[in-house]
Amino acid sequence: MKKHNFSAGPCILPQSVLKQASEAVLNFNNDDLSLIEISHRSKPFVDVMEKARSLVLELLGLENKGYTALFLQGGASLEFLMTPYNLLKLGGKAVYLDTGTWSSKAIKEVKNLGDVEVVASSKDNDYSYIPKGYSIDNNADYFHCTSNNTIRGTQMKEFPKTSIPMVCDMSSDIFSKEMDFSQFDMIYAGAQKNMGPAGTTLVIVKTAILGKTGRNIPSMLDYQIHIDKDSMFNTPAVFPIYVSMLTLQWLKDLGGIKAIEKINNAKAELLYNEIDTNPLFKGTAAKEDRSYMNATFLLTDESKKEPFETMLKEAGINGLSGHRSVGGYRASMYNALPLESVEVLVGIMKKL
Ligand SMILES: Cc1ncc(COP(=O)(O)O)c(C=O)c1O
Repeated sequence: MKKHNFSAGPCILPQSVLKQASEAVLNFNNDDLSLIEISHRSKPFVDVMEKARSLVLELLGLENKGYTALFLQGGASLEFLMTPYNLLKLGGKAVYLDTGTWSSKAIKEVKNLGDVEVVASSKDNDYSYIPKGYSIDNNADYFHCTSNNTIRGTQMKEFPKTSIPMVCDMSSDIFSKEMDFSQFDMIYAGAQKNMGPAGTTLVIVKTAILGKTGRNIPSMLDYQIHIDKDSMFNTPAVFPIYVSMLTLQWLKDLGGIKAIEKINNAKAELLYNEIDTNPLFKGTAAKEDRSYMNATFLLTDESKKEPFETMLKEAGINGLSGHRSVGGYRASMYNALPLESVEVLVGIMKKL
């Protein structure tokens, strides 16, 4: 049965990528060896790593602009700690925008190392909007924000202008829409949404912002060490990095971010239009801040829950439940989700 996979992450990946990846597990490069049983220092794997790193910079328009792409481990959650380790000066201060669960977790980690100012928060209204109109202290060491709030379904459409380094957790919307990525000095993202399997984290950092904290950084947490070792300080997550490379190549072949953005807009507009016009459904995020990756919504009539969920199941729709902390429904429409899957979902909503 054809499935329509709206899972929030790990999530849908292109079928062609899954096929190539499964072939490489059995026989990589026609060498009669598996991708996951060769040395990460062998030329075939070093080529994979280098291609993945260069595709990242190419797709984001960051080539030759002083950035390095790294594939690390520990998830985006470890970046919550690595960011202050590498950017927060001894006795300094970081400024964070609090837009949901993931920003709050990032803020908590900074407190292990020093001072953090929460410049604005949407906690007062269940993180259903993106705060605006705040001003950032130019004497702070860096500003951190989360571009897409995966759980509550909000997304930053604009980013503040600031003279201090800007860091963005783009775990759930990287590579989904065009923007000037050079406005950020550092971007990080777990692979398991728009890139590949869980197990590797993409970090893109402008090397000029490093080396200024005056603190001792443990080796595995030190971006400069990972840069000096070409993202191979220790054994990298070979399979997730290989699959990420295939997905990035798939995106490039499709026409890059510009091409996928058109498809992503069509999917989100179709679904939000149904949510807004069908009285049985209600969106939970402020309209102007709605996420084009994760649409969160509720049923307005609880007696329709059972028939709705039966229809979803019969149509092969997977992963539509809201995050366990908030309930309701969440349709995650990452890059690899075809428009057809949203059409099937909207068809069910109309039928209901
Ligand atoms: C925006 C955002 N940041 C951070 C994380 C945490 O990522 P990880 O599980 O890779 O640590 C997630 C996970 O869904 C996320 O959506």
